[in-house]
Amino acid sequence: MTNRFSVELDLQFLAAFVRDEEWLSLQPFVTDLHNRLQRGDVPKGDGIGWLHLPSRTLDGGLDDLLDAAASIREQADALVVIGIGGSYLGARAAFEWCKPEYYNQLPKDVRGGPELYFAGNHLSASALSDLLRVLEGKRVCLNVVSKSGTTTEPAVAFRLLRGWLADRTRPDELKQRIFVTTDQSRGALRKLANEEGYRTFVIPDDVGGRYSVLTPVGLLPLAAVGVDIRALLEGALEAECKLASADLRDNIAYRYAAVRNALFRKGKLIEILACYEPALRSFAEWWKQLFGESEGKDQKGIYPSSVGYTTDLHSLGQFVQEGYRNLFETVVRVDQSPADLTLPPDERVDDGLEYLAGRPLSWINDQARAATQLAHADGGVPNILVTVPDRRERSLGALFYFFELACAASGLLMGINPFNQPGVEAYKVNMFALLGKPGFEDRQAEIEGRLRAGAAAASR
Ligand code: PA5
Repeated sequence: MTNRFSVELDLQFLAAFVRDEEWLSLQPFVTDLHNRLQRGDVPKGDGIGWLHLPSRTLDGGLDDLLDAAASIREQADALVVIGIGGSYLGARAAFEWCKPEYYNQLPKDVRGGPELYFAGNHLSASALSDLLRVLEGKRVCLNVVSKSGTTTEPAVAFRLLRGWLADRTRPDELKQRIFVTTDQSRGALRKLANEEGYRTFVIPDDVGGRYSVLTPVGLLPLAAVGVDIRALLEGALEAECKLASADLRDNIAYRYAAVRNALFRKGKLIEILACYEPALRSFAEWWKQLFGESEGKDQKGIYPSSVGYTTDLHSLGQFVQEGYRNLFETVVRVDQSPADLTLPPDERVDDGLEYLAGRPLSWINDQARAATQLAHADGGVPNILVTVPDRRERSLGALFYFFELACAASGLLMGINPFNQPGVEAYKVNMFALLGKPGFEDRQAEIEGRLRAGAAAASR
């Protein structure tokens, strides 16, 4: 392991907004939260098993996961991961980060693994019907992922997809095509898996959904499509080792958390994660869930948002440059592009681009990034730059861990519990009532009445 950490934090575009002394002044609070994390003395919630997950998982071995992944590759033309929130966002982020943009459209021998689709992350009949149409005629495996084993969206999709698959597969084969990732012993999904004899993988009790990408939640589907999960974990292990200090000068995850906290106290209530690679779109979704679900409670929190540049410079760019000044940006930059193109000379066409002839597209993209960061900082938007060397698994593993630790630290600094998600239940209670779930009868009568009264008032 070299001394240099894969993730770099650059605060040059922040200097006009937050002085070093401001984030350094948070050192006593950071030391305290670091000690509490190390002792496990944190608010009640899903736990902090993610803190030592890379070392724990690598020590425990990956044979069972790799064996299941090989079985999926052997059996399937397509794998469907059924899950929502933390039970799919990390897998999707890593899949899109590591694999080519049009992976599913590539020939099988080029892909080296099954096509990969995600379901159970919505309740849209049309989106699921469209997926079934794409799957028709293919050999399909399902990986249903739910820690609680009771979440409505994946449960509905699993029932529909399992029924669809059962109609097209011999019963003995069906069992081999279904892989379940869930709690060790609790929940309807665990019960069903045990009854049906599906192959199962466990989500550790002490790892919450949004911190679970490096458990079988992410690792199984990623291994199935040929992502190097060992390298992913080794990158995270590098972060686990490099981010073990309480010192803000050494630990960039804590520094990022402290800087966010300083910005929050200056009224910067919205953080925009900006990426210049379409392959990082789902990474931004993973990041938004991590911070949104961890910090948005007790009427506090920085609202996590995201943009894909340069695309969104032609839509949201105007707002970021000149709109209400309660924003800051965190740019995730990938230093080396996995592929490059050089703009060819072409003097026959006067498209005004000859000055760029011979320039790599990745260089042009990075100039746009630097130019935008300067412009946004000049326009009053503090900018933070996070750089990783490349789009290899190792870099991503380190980045996942960096943001997880930063998120936990940031939440604790803000005085909220970053390990629970009580607010997620509110819509579920109303939805169960409207759907007529047994046990919700009183609530059903109450909210149906409210909805009727609201509709009547609106039509007057
Ligand atoms: O981070 C979380 O805890 C949530 O986003 C969950 O992952 C999500 O609600 C899905 O829950 P489950 O895995 O229990 O189906």
